[in-house]
Amino acid sequence: LPHLSSLLPPGREPPRMSPMVEPLSWMLGTWLSEPPGAGTFPTLQPFRYLEEAHISHVGQPMLNFSFSAFHPDTRKPMHRECGFIRLQPDTNKVAFVSAQNTGIVEVEEGEVNGQELCIASHSIARISFAKEPHVEQITRKFRLNSEGKLEQTVSMATTTQPLTQHLHVTYKKD
Ligand code: HEM
Repeated sequence: LPHLSSLLPPGREPPRMSPMVEPLSWMLGTWLSEPPGAGTFPTLQPFRYLEEAHISHVGQPMLNFSFSAFHPDTRKPMHRECGFIRLQPDTNKVAFVSAQNTGIVEVEEGEVNGQELCIASHSIARISFAKEPHVEQITRKFRLNSEGKLEQTVSMATTTQPLTQHLHVTYKKD
């Protein structure tokens, strides 16, 4: 079987970026957590994790992303999610759609301002047999810092806790 990317039009690789996604072009790349990400939550022991963020496009007016987390010592795969980031034409409004290996599917919406993207959950769906506590709200901030590193901060509210930070990670371009 041919690799799927070989089904893209030949002779023009990589595909030209859609001007629609230019306001988000600072997110593009393969990024590795450095230092390891930091996990927190009132109900959890603080933890560290490694994460690869792969943010790409195939010439469509959207970005594709995958975030893959690993245990820092054992390198066992942990949280994973992938999806798409879309911009509303002629505005700075952004929609973020993600499917997570934990059985959550979510839509977040917000705004990009310069090299900062702030989004908050608009809808969250979960599998019927998800364990409690359930996630009720998610907010994220992505930004490119002054050192050219990408940062992601995730906060969440659950059925037992108000909106509180769960993750903070700085990524260096691979
Ligand atoms: C626990 C949600 C991303 C690692 C949890 C809990 C929830 C949750 C609801 C249970 C909290 C409690 O018991 O009170 C999410 C959501 C994420 C996310 C919505 C993404 C938007 C991540 C990532 C990691 C991670 C990237 C990195 C490894 C953990 C760990 C725990 C945890 C280690 C505690 C043990 C466990 O329950 O597996 N998360 N999480 N999470 N999360 Fe996340």
